[in-house]
Amino acid sequence: MHSLSMSSENNNISFDIRDHNTRMDIKNQNKTDNDFTVTPWEVDGNVDYNKLINKFGTFAITNEIIEKIKNITGEVHPLLKNRYFFSHRDLDWILNEYQKGNKFYLYTGRGPSGLIHLGHLMPWLFTKYLQDRFDVKLIFQITDDEKFLFNDGKDLETINKFTIENILDIIAIGFDPNKTKIIVDTKHINYLYPLAIEIAKKITFSTAKAVFGFSNSSNIGMIGFPPIQSAPCFLPSLIEKKSTPVLIPAAIDQDPYWRITRDIAEKIGYYKPAQIHSKFIPGLANSGKMSSSKPETALFTIDDPENLEKKVQNSFTGGQPTVALQRKLGGNADICPVYWYLNYLFDSEDQSIERYSNCTGGNLLCGECKGDLIKKVKPFMNNIQLKREKAKDKVKDYMIDGKDIDN
Ligand code: TYM
Repeated sequence: MHSLSMSSENNNISFDIRDHNTRMDIKNQNKTDNDFTVTPWEVDGNVDYNKLINKFGTFAITNEIIEKIKNITGEVHPLLKNRYFFSHRDLDWILNEYQKGNKFYLYTGRGPSGLIHLGHLMPWLFTKYLQDRFDVKLIFQITDDEKFLFNDGKDLETINKFTIENILDIIAIGFDPNKTKIIVDTKHINYLYPLAIEIAKKITFSTAKAVFGFSNSSNIGMIGFPPIQSAPCFLPSLIEKKSTPVLIPAAIDQDPYWRITRDIAEKIGYYKPAQIHSKFIPGLANSGKMSSSKPETALFTIDDPENLEKKVQNSFTGGQPTVALQRKLGGNADICPVYWYLNYLFDSEDQSIERYSNCTGGNLLCGECKGDLIKKVKPFMNNIQLKREKAKDKVKDYMIDGKDIDN
């Protein structure tokens, strides 16, 4: 085992590089800290977001930035106010450009490895707010190639089924069809390939190894993939025929892609893409983010009401083992997924403050919070399910080539 280090942006990153073959090795090589891991393929442990800002070399969202957004849009989204979106790169720059009349594009995406859960919806709901408030265009990439290459167990046919299912969820969010283009990598690679090879030519294998943990025995599709996820950062400049800023809303797990993209952007004549990073929605179990690879810990958009209720009732909480102890010692809201789902999506700021103090003061039992969540999450998912049905007739309005995905 030896150690490689590279300088990326204002941050030094060093990783142990080992000569093994599996995705698990890549995850382990990218351990960001002794007790938590954040990579594009795995998030585990209790993530310390302040430490991540330092490790990844990003910047905390400040009150000044929030004020600026408020001045431009007239409101601040609750997920920004409560710092669910907590970190950024060049967001201040992109807002300045916008105020000068240089409009940005939004770019976000999905790797279709399974069904859509609450965690995936978070960046997309926020992206819709940005699209509406800033009146900007959106590129939405579906990296079906990534999910094929990085998952030993998934064939293209299965991934294709998830691609179609996931597109219904994306449309159900309500993005403006006139301002949104979905790119499915295996179907629309012609839009990305010229950019991808320009990017690929500027990134050495040594950099890719240091950032993503590739090894000699990684399959070469994996090694070649990152420029495909970088390419949409520059596509708006080709579409608009002028340098066009791009803002990427996503959870912070995707950051390694943006680090390598930013490193090469100016070398090939484009603006560095800006990012706004979110935290993760925890899973229903007691550790890790909500993930479709652990379906029992996730609330899916297609879950029926009974299933949602059952999952919430079985959820881990920050509660004490008995009612008497809960009344005496209070619960631990900080580690409770039920508290966080309510905080991020359903409670007002005041309700959440009250819930926190009642829980930690022993005046609220876990059953009551679970009941509140069940009451909110059932109609929330039902609404998405109705919109998914309607989305079936709208797919071609969103695709970059204007064609249905099956054709
Ligand atoms: P994927 O499919 O893993 O995730 C899709 C989006 O959801 C975010 N996310 C979460 N956010 C909060 N809590 C969670 N538990 C949670 N799980 C996932 C991810 O950060 C992501 O924003 N390679 C990408 C696809 C992609 C992409 C992009 C994503 C291509 N281009 C541009 C963001 C921006 C992927 O597999 O995402």
